[in-house]
Amino acid sequence: MDEFYHIITFGCQMNEHDSEKFGGQLELLGYQAADNPESADIILVNTCCIRDKAEQKAFSFLGRLRALKEKKKNLIIGVCGCLAQSSGAALLKRAPYIDMVIGAKSIGCLPQIINKVKIEKKAQLELGGYEYHNNRIVRGDPFRAWVTIMEGCDNYCTYCVVPYVRGREQSRPMGDIIDEIHCLSDKGCREVTLLGQNVNSYGNNLNNGAGFPYLLEKISEIQGISRIRFVTSHPKDLSLELIHKMAALPKVCNHLHLPLQSGSDRILSAMNRKYTLAAYWEKVRFLRELIPQISITSDIIVGFPGETDDDFKETLRALELIKFDSIFSFIYSDRPHTAASVLTDKVPRAKALRRFQSLIKLQEKINADRAGQMLGSSRQILVESISKTDSAKLSGRTGNNKLVHFTGSADLIGKLVDVNIIRACKNSFMGELV
Ligand code: 5AD
Ligand code: SF4
Repeated sequence: MDEFYHIITFGCQMNEHDSEKFGGQLELLGYQAADNPESADIILVNTCCIRDKAEQKAFSFLGRLRALKEKKKNLIIGVCGCLAQSSGAALLKRAPYIDMVIGAKSIGCLPQIINKVKIEKKAQLELGGYEYHNNRIVRGDPFRAWVTIMEGCDNYCTYCVVPYVRGREQSRPMGDIIDEIHCLSDKGCREVTLLGQNVNSYGNNLNNGAGFPYLLEKISEIQGISRIRFVTSHPKDLSLELIHKMAALPKVCNHLHLPLQSGSDRILSAMNRKYTLAAYWEKVRFLRELIPQISITSDIIVGFPGETDDDFKETLRALELIKFDSIFSFIYSDRPHTAASVLTDKVPRAKALRRFQSLIKLQEKINADRAGQMLGSSRQILVESISKTDSAKLSGRTGNNKLVHFTGSADLIGKLVDVNIIRACKNSFMGELV
């Protein structure tokens, strides 16, 4: 009898890609993809725990699965990813209808765990590190693909739970990465996004001297691949060598996500970020000098413990100085195990919220200014899909990662085309085929 699976993903691109790996393992076991949880025999919830809100979202979703389990007794419900890793057995206690908890480092053990659930007929918990071979990945897009280049993080920013759930930094051998991208290219993939918590320190544990700039050079040599993106970069590890390489390699996209987190040196130091605003700004200036069309985006946290009004003003001033193309902004959230969670001078929620709102207001103005600079230019875009808001239009992204909608025929999907940017909307642009 046919059996079906459904995966729900919360969190970052790393999690999205892990879900593609889980999907691959399930298909190798003979399961087929189902469009919704109701028609699935196995449901995986891939969770995030970076902030409390992400965690609450996963819990509330899990609550909804309880009714499904009551209706369908042999349904298997698995919780995987970061919350699974950080909450472990507590999850099974809180939601006893869960059949398996699989940690963020244990993707490779999915087949064995499913087997155990079926044979032993009791809940299974697996949080250990497990070898994973990417024998099958179910990818969502034939033209664009995520490729893991490293796992884990060694930076221990004081607010961040990632090193505790994803473990120590581990780079993937270069040969494996190159082989995977060759296969993707043979199947028609045009764009790869290299994934790691801190891609700039790629190769540190491989001891063969082959760092991230060299990896970019090698990937650039793969014929069918036209575009290379990567996330995330840590400012302290963004080397001049890498900036030069980005400028010299035309396939490397003109976009850099470079989380600043705060504009106050005092707070940056309390966050253990290991750079100052001045050092960050110098790198941005150098990036813009060598790669004039580059877009730089960032992450900002407000309300870190001990953040004063003056510290926050420095963050606002930093935004005015740097003029990011866009930012993701967050209110500080206490996370278990982290060094910041035990600090006593927490910022009251109402104050943090006010700061958050004024940050967003300022950045909206800057976003509009930056968007204005795109108008009238001609840009190459990789056509991704029919537009989600207007079925008569197509959508794609520029090298500097701006979403553009334009009129064109669907056979352009997957192709690189030139468009003139004619109008700026809130989070995207309207273009015209050249
Ligand atoms: N509270 C708020 N934001 C956080 N981030 C990471 N940990 C926390 C936390 N405890 C943000 C950082 C990071 C992004 C992925 O999430 O800005 O760059
Ligand atoms: Fe978290 Fe810092 Fe590592 Fe990013 S670099 S994952 S913020 S500890």
